[in-house]
Amino acid sequence: MLLRGTITAPLPSSLRLTNHKPRNVTVSSQSNLSYPLSISDETLQSRGFILRRTPENLNLEELNKVFVAVGFPRRDPEKIRIALENTDAMVWVEERKTQNAVAFARATGDGVFNAIIWDVVVDPSFQGIGLGKAVVERLIEDLVGRGILNIALYSEPRVIGFYRPLGFVADPDGIKGMVYSRKPKRK
Ligand SMILES: CC(C)(COP(=O)(O)OP(=O)(O)OC[C@H]1O[C@@H](n2cnc3c(N)ncnc32)[C@H](O)[C@@H]1OP(=O)(O)O)[C@@H](O)C(=O)NCCC(=O)NCCS
Repeated sequence: MLLRGTITAPLPSSLRLTNHKPRNVTVSSQSNLSYPLSISDETLQSRGFILRRTPENLNLEELNKVFVAVGFPRRDPEKIRIALENTDAMVWVEERKTQNAVAFARATGDGVFNAIIWDVVVDPSFQGIGLGKAVVERLIEDLVGRGILNIALYSEPRVIGFYRPLGFVADPDGIKGMVYSRKPKRK
């Protein structure tokens, strides 16, 4: 289902993103719109978490473990690296003790009008303490801050109740999301 917002590791060094800056990742204040945050960076910090907005030092193997732990298919870390290079905005939460990502969300888009949010995950050991909300709120804050107001995502039915209070509605004005569903044929 398409929801649309209307507001609007240590690991091999080759897989640790160090110098990469995703496109347009810096938040610029092109817009005077604001988005409320339910928990501040400082409060999260006092609880042992660091908010990150770039992939610098993001351990992709550890992130992949979080994906797998929540039921996403395990993906090739090299492909994750490429996906992150082509990501417009990301927010992740580092557990200070382990330096691993325990919450993550990212968005791709055209940088001006539209964005789609992907890969919203929280390590099961850290769910239920506000980290999921913290990363999605900040992602929206980043996008809205750049004037990007058409923000969409795909939600599994069991997670719709998580996204709704964050400003997302299902089928806005009756509009249905559609995905290409034909499987490629072998040549
Ligand atoms: C969905 C997910 C990201 C939520 O992260 P989280 O850190 O556990 O959620 P939070 O603690 O930030 O919860 C924020 C609020 O959403 C609510 N909430 C959390 N998960 C919910 C769900 N599945 N349905 C309805 N409400 C939910 C919480 O009760 C909380 O409400 P409150 O603000 O009134 O206290 C996390 O459970 C997860 O990674 N799930 C597996 C992966 C997944 O399904 N991702 C989404 C892909 S579409």
